[in-house]
Amino acid sequence: MSRSPMIARTVPALHRTLDRLRARKATVALVPTMGALHDGHVSLVRLARRRASRVVVSIFVNPTQFAPTEDFGSYPRTWKSDAARLAAEGVDLIWNPDAGTMYPDGFATRIVPEGAATANLEDRFRPHFFGGVATVVGKLFTQVRPNLAIFGEKDFQQLRVVTQMARDLDLGVKVVGSPTVRERDGLAMSSRNVYLSPEERLKAPVLYRALKESARRLRAGDDVAATMAGGVEMIVAAGFVLDYFEVRHAGTLAPVGARGDGPMRILVAARLGNTRLIDNIAV
Ligand code: PAF
Repeated sequence: MSRSPMIARTVPALHRTLDRLRARKATVALVPTMGALHDGHVSLVRLARRRASRVVVSIFVNPTQFAPTEDFGSYPRTWKSDAARLAAEGVDLIWNPDAGTMYPDGFATRIVPEGAATANLEDRFRPHFFGGVATVVGKLFTQVRPNLAIFGEKDFQQLRVVTQMARDLDLGVKVVGSPTVRERDGLAMSSRNVYLSPEERLKAPVLYRALKESARRLRAGDDVAATMAGGVEMIVAAGFVLDYFEVRHAGTLAPVGARGDGPMRILVAARLGNTRLIDNIAV
């Protein structure tokens, strides 16, 4: 039988519960989420469980990382099944504030990340995004004060941004990346996959196929520009509208021109109908 996690919805309740959890020198891992949990989130929770004695999962659909034209209103909210999944995983505490708790009246502070946050990838298409993410993750880190925090590699630029922020602001949190979990056909798991129509769902794995094929070619020493052009062709031919398909330095996200420029990562964002998908692969 799984034990129900404790649930905190106010900052004082969170701190009271954490004080109890931290007794006897427990280490605390935080898994920040926006809910609509899938097997990818479960893998983050399991990594947290292996790396710390207490696991806190936050569920908060953060309004400040959505542009007015984006899907904040329709973002899937599945509290009941989320809570059941977290209970089955033995999570100790769910931190589930509402928007008024996170951003009370008069809230007037924003973290504006630079570096990887201005790499001209996601930030080119979602200029509001990393400021919203950095601000909410900065708050989550100071509220929960975890020893470590687990983020999925699927949002690779986000992982780089929060890693840098934790370091720059001396937040005392070790940020750990966790590998992307995929459907059997290769599509990266995402809460937004539910938006895909059945026809779009059939096309969606092409993104991962293009990533894999391009990574294979780069590893084999093929020309970078020709390889990337081949990947773009595959994606566009499948009916995607491409935002970017780029190879970058895996650490800094700076552009790379040749194989010897350091560890590489290929990153992609593309739209199928109204659904925007992102993914990436190590070279
Ligand atoms: O990756 C996400 O789900 C969100 O961007 C995060 C990190 C929970 C911040 O709202």
